Amino acid sequence: MHKDIESVLVSEKEIENIVNTLAKKIEKDYNDKDLIMVGLLKGSVVFMSDLMRKINLLFPIDFIVSSIYGRGTESSGRVNLIKDMSLPVENKDILIVEDIVDSGRTLDFIKNYLLVKRANSVRICTLFDKPVRRAADVAVDYTGMTVPDSFIVGYGLDYNEKYRNLPYVGILSDRCIKQS
Ligand code: IMP
Ligand code: MG
Repeated sequence: MHKDIESVLVSEKEIENIVNTLAKKIEKDYNDKDLIMVGLLKGSVVFMSDLMRKINLLFPIDFIVSSIYGRGTESSGRVNLIKDMSLPVENKDILIVEDIVDSGRTLDFIKNYLLVKRANSVRICTLFDKPVRRAADVAVDYTGMTVPDSFIVGYGLDYNEKYRNLPYVGILSDRCIKQS
């Protein structure tokens, strides 16, 4: 375990089991649909890489970059679209892949944006959900695991762009949050 991590919340093995369970559900639900899997960069990159390889269907992938957090652990509430999808959205069944839903503002914004662009359907798959912090009323369709109100890092999740490459998910020490 890295010295900045207070405790491991989800081990590599546990993550693998969660991803397999989500992949099975998605495979069943999207069998007869025109799926595009859309990752929100950068947090979803590790999760999405594992998830898409466990789904036994052929589908294109795409990415959106938005920002809400900037630096630190508190949400500003404003969502900016930094990079849009490159594939056409109209009539497609979009599955947004996210690392963690916190206030829900990012997903609320992105989901509405894709519906305005005439997607046939827009669903959300998140690895982690922090429901106690929800501010926007956005429906999450696939959730890997509900987590407590601590700041977590690893497996794609960062704090000031650090810790994304940890293979497990851990609670970041308060000491590291206060220092920066
Ligand atoms: P929301 O719009 O407030 O739901 O923001 C969600 C985004 O905030 C996620 O995609 C993450 O990038 C970031 N975030 C929220 N909670 C955490 C956390 O505990 N660790 C790392 N990133 C987080
Ligand atoms: Mg994110």
